[in-house]
Amino acid sequence: MFDKLSIPIIQAPMLGATTEAIAIAVSKTGAMGSYAAAGSAPDQILNGVKAIRAATDQPFAVNLFVLDPVDPPPAMVAEAMARLAPWRERYGLPAQSIPNSWAQAFAPQFAALVEAAPPAASFTFGALTRDQARALKARGTYLIGTATTVAEARHWAEIGADAICAQGIEAGGHRGTFLKSMPESSIGTMALVPTIRQAVNLPVIAAGGIMDGAGVAAALALGAVAVQLGSAFLLSEEVTVSAPWRKAIETAPDDPTRLTRAISGRYARGIDNEFMATMRPIEDEIAPYPIQNALTQELRAAATKAGSPDVLSLWAGQAIKLARPGPAARIVEELWADAQAVMRRAAEKYAG
Ligand SMILES: Cc1cc2nc3c(=O)[nH]c(=O)nc-3n(C[C@H](O)[C@H](O)[C@H](O)COP(=O)(O)O)c2cc1C
Repeated sequence: MFDKLSIPIIQAPMLGATTEAIAIAVSKTGAMGSYAAAGSAPDQILNGVKAIRAATDQPFAVNLFVLDPVDPPPAMVAEAMARLAPWRERYGLPAQSIPNSWAQAFAPQFAALVEAAPPAASFTFGALTRDQARALKARGTYLIGTATTVAEARHWAEIGADAICAQGIEAGGHRGTFLKSMPESSIGTMALVPTIRQAVNLPVIAAGGIMDGAGVAAALALGAVAVQLGSAFLLSEEVTVSAPWRKAIETAPDDPTRLTRAISGRYARGIDNEFMATMRPIEDEIAPYPIQNALTQELRAAATKAGSPDVLSLWAGQAIKLARPGPAARIVEELWADAQAVMRRAAEKYAG
């Protein structure tokens, strides 16, 4: 797979910030674009893959969240809704009703993905079963599993993944963690990539905190076959980042991000805001993903409409201040040219 790329950069799937358009623009450069399909219904997945295929014959990836069906106890839902009531009032929303569905069901999404048979598929939040991995690979799809620990990388290797996406603690957006607690799964990209390489005999993709040519060069020097960048594209022309989110990125103070589970019920990294700060003392009591995520959806939409960042998921990685605007293709090409220049300079200076 990675021999087919002329640029070893993967544009990270970013649910809520990307559409097929950025995947097409990035794949056309010879790097790899990703379609964040976790929020897509099965027919949208089939149509999305068709649209990308029609636009480029270069490799691309489709990404899903591995989720079990949920049936939360009514008391948990009532408590979560009570906590959100004053925030809804602030944005003029009526009393909350229980959503019709908590999230897209994974099984039909996965069936559509197998049918669509994209060149690559990546997964986060959990791992496939061996049978699911076999079914996908039998269709010729290259299987990438997200790991935030060495144990998770070993798990993916055992079920038959083709490559591991090592997601360091620097990364923006949701943590892919699925085996251990968050404190045990808070490993930086610099430590995670080589320790996963030592443990499993699979290509490793480095993700988390890589935002410029030097970061790309550093991750490749660590032995990654490719780098996966999300935050580096958050100011690109193709993203669907809302105005208050974009402004929060453009005006971020030093060291602006925190991990939170207040917004979605799953740990994610974003620019700190009032909601995250207020919920911090009771963070452990928040209903799990996707319950809290579904319950905060209307609130986030209303706040976006009002232009306020106070309750939004301002997902961004630790190095977000290095983000630059422009077309995604230009961002990729500049990153790669910068990385090559860094590697050349390092070789001249140190390689003897
Ligand atoms: C806004 C945003 C949304 C994200 N959504 C997804 C997603 O849908 N699926 C996924 O596997 N990873 C998602 N991620 C995580 C990325 O795949 C990747 O791990 C991360 O962006 C790398 O760190 P960086 O942001 O420092 O580049 C998201 C990241 C961001 C910033």
